[in-house]
Amino acid sequence: MRLRYLYTLCLVLFTAGFASAQNVRKTESFNADWKFFLGDDTAASQVKFDDNRWRKLDLPHDWSIEGEFDSKNPTTQAEGGLPAGIGWYRKSFMIPASSKTKTILIDFDGVFHNSEVWINGHYLGKRPNGYISFRYDLTPYLKFGAQQNVIAVRVDNSDQPNSRWYTGSGIYRNVWLTTANKIHLPQWSSFITTPQVDHQKAAINIRTVLAGLVGSKLTLRASVLDDQGKVVGTVTSSVIDTVIQQNIRVMNPKLWSINHPNLYKVKLQLIAGNKVIDDYTTTTGIRYFNFDADKGFRLNGEPMKILGVCLHHDQGALGTAVNTRAIERQLQILKNMGCNAIRTSHNPPAPELLDLCDKMGFLVMDEAFDMWKKKKSKHDYHEDWDEWHVKDLQDQVLRDRNHPSIFAWSIGNEIREQFDSTGVSIGRELVKIVKQLDNTRPVTSALSDADPKKNFIYQSGALDLVGLNYHQEVYADFQKNYPGQKFIGTENMSALATRGHYDMPSDSIRRWPKDGKTPLKDGNADFTVSSYDNVSAYWGSTHEETWKIIKTHDFLSGLFVWTGFDYIGEPTPYLWPARSSYFGIVDLAGFPKDVYYMYQSEWTNKSVLHLLPHWNWKPGQLIDVWAYYNNADEVEAFLNGKSIGVRKKTGDDLHVMWRVKYEPGVLKAVSRRNGKVVMTTQVVTAGEPYKIQLKADRSKIKADGKDLSYITVSVLDKNNVPVPDANQLVKFKVTGQGVLKAVDNGSQTDLDPFVSDQHHLFNGLGLAIIQSKAVGGKITVTAAADGLQAGSVVIESLR
Ligand code: GAL
Repeated sequence: MRLRYLYTLCLVLFTAGFASAQNVRKTESFNADWKFFLGDDTAASQVKFDDNRWRKLDLPHDWSIEGEFDSKNPTTQAEGGLPAGIGWYRKSFMIPASSKTKTILIDFDGVFHNSEVWINGHYLGKRPNGYISFRYDLTPYLKFGAQQNVIAVRVDNSDQPNSRWYTGSGIYRNVWLTTANKIHLPQWSSFITTPQVDHQKAAINIRTVLAGLVGSKLTLRASVLDDQGKVVGTVTSSVIDTVIQQNIRVMNPKLWSINHPNLYKVKLQLIAGNKVIDDYTTTTGIRYFNFDADKGFRLNGEPMKILGVCLHHDQGALGTAVNTRAIERQLQILKNMGCNAIRTSHNPPAPELLDLCDKMGFLVMDEAFDMWKKKKSKHDYHEDWDEWHVKDLQDQVLRDRNHPSIFAWSIGNEIREQFDSTGVSIGRELVKIVKQLDNTRPVTSALSDADPKKNFIYQSGALDLVGLNYHQEVYADFQKNYPGQKFIGTENMSALATRGHYDMPSDSIRRWPKDGKTPLKDGNADFTVSSYDNVSAYWGSTHEETWKIIKTHDFLSGLFVWTGFDYIGEPTPYLWPARSSYFGIVDLAGFPKDVYYMYQSEWTNKSVLHLLPHWNWKPGQLIDVWAYYNNADEVEAFLNGKSIGVRKKTGDDLHVMWRVKYEPGVLKAVSRRNGKVVMTTQVVTAGEPYKIQLKADRSKIKADGKDLSYITVSVLDKNNVPVPDANQLVKFKVTGQGVLKAVDNGSQTDLDPFVSDQHHLFNGLGLAIIQSKAVGGKITVTAAADGLQAGSVVIESLR
């Protein structure tokens, strides 16, 4: 039956009045002032336990990142060789006597993993999945007024190896404490959709499940607020059914899109008599999209390619401890490249990532699992599958389904069950779980067997979208092999590179050997990989190879490059001391590799002219010079003022090349369109290292104890030319209202710790991550190295 839409405008419904603050729910950060102990002590669950000697810290916290890289750690090289183990957290806190009549809830956004929680000695429960958000009701066990409560959390990440990438260990996401009235909106109870959208009007549907409250004479008021906080529509309904459907019409809606991520808010108020007894606000966006087997993807009716990257959840040197600014920086770097989509490989993400994607305009493929019943690592989630997969998947969809950025669910990555008939039954079961909670988005799975006749997850017939990992060679024939099906490249490329490293010549492609074990044949002794985009894993391709195919066919709706950033762990193709991945378009420290500019030239309209490599070589050496460019029909390069030729991309070329006998000096490139100069750029030979230069990505940050300024460290010669192979040990000093949080350089093999006040540069660059204190003021960062003039930068931290 078609739903009856009740459109009610905001004018009338003020009879209920707005609540005074103490009546409605309050959600506060519960991150501050925890005690931590690395090790196991079962007595720590008890109230009387003496934790005086434990370390004090604020959450989010990842203890693994504080450890030393060591190939003997049981996490193995797959997790970067960082330590794991067991850890305990405790926090003492008071709840005001005025809250005696309330419900007090604690929300953990994610704990890696096997968390167990006690409140005042009472066991609340266990949650094995390290990526899932969960809640406990503390109310029955709390003491109020001047009495202390103690919450204790045991985190067991000792069951190693349990992952193919770095997970981090601990309460690595935010924790929240909510105080609500006894009668309140249940967690994740509303589902907000936009069943009808055009540029003139949109219908917002709010479906709220209020089991247990029927017949209580309550009303539920829903209001839609625009980005100025103005109420644009309100409807009030009596709670007479378990499921309440409310519809609000928004005239001239500002649609959510990649370039204009307009957001609205839906405020729900539960009303008893004339009193608001609970309220809850959800961010939403008005948009529609569809996939077409012939034409690919459309957002709000406009054709667009999904230009995505896969991301793991670590934030490089910060480990996995969630920091909103760190995630935002990552997304800004990707946005600047033209990336418009993120696949949360291979697990539910931090809520902050989804909030940022809503706000910044990224599509998100929200992925659930890397394995089902069949394992990939000895102690991975397959051990918890039977008991937990239904609840975990349900909770993921319930938590995330209101985000406008999410356009697809993935029920799994390269799941082993695709190779046997259990792929049919489990595939159907999981799709059904998702669809029961959200039937507005397609469900896919990232399949690694591209043969439709042999792939049992595909054979389940349950997938809306066929997601293929790699197998780019069959993409052109997709419509023939998968008649009527819709395509998405769930994972692509797996090309390898080390930032700032170049091997000559550049014009042949090398693949990682097929046996999957031996390091790259003829690989470099220092475990670097050339940055000319000519090395890839054998199952993948260079960046150019796959992008050329995807861009050609409309039915190929898009792709997800493996990966946007390097991540800790999975250091294909090398063995120890390689400890982080080579797949990123951007290195672990956030410095773009050269291929970033290939994407920028293809994925954005802004003019690009990028020249590689650097210009410090041996005289007479033959050097391959590449240029990525767009918005121009030719590029001319000049070595010390003499033209070395004009190059034009022909056919499907994505770069041009000159082979040049090296001489020191200036290599300059000029791009032209119709004879007119579009851009010029140059690389210059650097002389002897002379001084350190520090550059802050943001020179003003918030004095909230969380915000970050990322300082890029480079070494310049006397003429201010950056020295491309600088690798000095740099020592940092931070004074004023900030702290040095971590250091990095983007090298995949550097075994020095990230949590340190010194670090070597790598291929000319280093990174210092500065965090504000909760007090405003100046932060001065200085960096010194033997034989060089020190550098400094001042950051203002503002209240
Ligand atoms: C894929 C896998 C990813 C990553 C990648 C490396 O097969 O889905 O998680 O391991 O290979 O190339």
